Formats: sequence, C-alpha cells, structure tokens
Amino acid sequence: MKVIAVNGSPREDGNTAAALRAMADVLKGEGIETEIVHVGGKLIPGCIGCGHCFSSEGNICVFKDDAVEENVMKIRAADGIILGAPTYYAGIPGPMKSFLDRVFFSSSRYLKYKVGTAVTAVRRAGGADVVHQLMNYFNLAETVTPPSQYWTIVYGMDKGEALKDEEGMQTVRKNARAMAWLLKVIDASKGKIPLPPTEKREFTNFIR
Ligand SMILES: Cc1cc2nc3c(=O)[nH]c(=O)nc-3n(C[C@H](O)[C@H](O)[C@H](O)COP(=O)(O)O)c2cc1C
Repeated sequence: MKVIAVNGSPREDGNTAAALRAMADVLKGEGIETEIVHVGGKLIPGCIGCGHCFSSEGNICVFKDDAVEENVMKIRAADGIILGAPTYYAGIPGPMKSFLDRVFFSSSRYLKYKVGTAVTAVRRAGGADVVHQLMNYFNLAETVTPPSQYWTIVYGMDKGEALKDEEGMQTVRKNARAMAWLLKVIDASKGKIPLPPTEKREFTNFIR
C-alpha cells in the first residue's frame, strides 16, 4: 500500500515537512510506503472552471506542465493521501489552494473510499481553519478519514520548531497510526465487503 503526502509549504524542510515526515515514519513502521511531494512555492495556476476535466478523456486538467500534471496520477493511484500545509492568514497558501482545487475537481471520482487526512503547521492561530479547509476536499471526494486525539496541528515558527511541540507531534503520529489501521481494514475488506451502493448524483444548484 502507498500513501502520497503533499507538502504545500514553500519550505521543503519546514514544520509541515517535519509533521509529514513523522507521519511517514509511523506508516513505514506499519509496512506502508509514503512518498512526500513538494508543491508549495511552485507557480500553479488556479482552476478556471472551464470543465475540460469533466469532458476530456481521463479527466485531465486543461493546464499542463506543472505540479498538478506531475502528481495527479500518483494521487489517483494511492491508497491514502495526506494533505499538509502551513497556515497563512488562517488559510491554505495560494499555490497549494490552486493545486488542490485542480486535483480534486478533476479527480474526486477516483478518490472514493481512499483514506485521507490533513495536517497544518502554524505559529499561533488559524490552524483549525486550515485543517477544516483541507478536510473539505476529502469530504466532497467521499474519502474516509482517520481520527486522532486533537486537531492535527503542529505549532512552530522557525524551521524545525514544531518538533518541540510534543502534543502536536503526538497528535499527528496517532493520526498516522489510525491511518495505517484504516488502510489495513479497507484492504482486508476487499472482495468480502462491497462498497456501499451509490445513487445517481442530483444537482439542484439551489435555483428552485
Ligand atoms: C504569509 C504567511 C502568513 C502566515 N500566517 C499565519 C497565521 O495566520 N497564523 C499563524 O499562527 N502563523 C502564520 N504564519 C506562520 C506560519 O504558519 C508558521 O511559520 C509555520 O510553521 C510555517 O510552516 P512551514 O515551516 O511548513 O512553512 C504565517 C507565515 C507566513 C509566511
């Protein structure tokens, strides 16, 4: 089984990365491989709502040659996904938002019943907002999410400071352990317990 962990910080060795590495270590101990991909700080155009990904073969985004094209197929193929981002103005940094809008708009249909979780690094406040924003992508993609003891937030400002946040690091480790358990439960259910039946999707758009 494989997990893709997305680092949406421009700092490849910052606090978000420290949390993702701690989670990857836990997953490795459980026999699950994690690849950390860095997308923060790259130039990533935002979704333009053109609908190309709905109609094109393979549901491919109209924009090419960037971090979305580089990583979208890996994300579709993964068993689990971790979204990591620093907190910027109580929100997701711009390039990461562009990345996620385009990946999830084009690929949610491929992510149902995968395991997804999210983590943020923050100096002081706004971290819970970012965890909620990241989890919104999973909620609408019909993924399942592992628990932990608290919101998956690590505190720190300068690179590596989050490693001193013992409770935060414990929270993300526990989340990764729960993710491993959930991945194994889903894997063991294959061929035995079918996914729940679905319904034709209704779109009412609140106009009548
Ligand atoms: C543009 C910008 C906005 C930020 N906004 C917030 C904020 O709203 N709340 C906060 O507590 N820290 C804020 N920070 C601090 C970062 O969240 C913090 O340094 C975090 O550890 C960075 O994670 P990283 O090392 O993974 O990049 C901000 C930092 C930057 C550069």
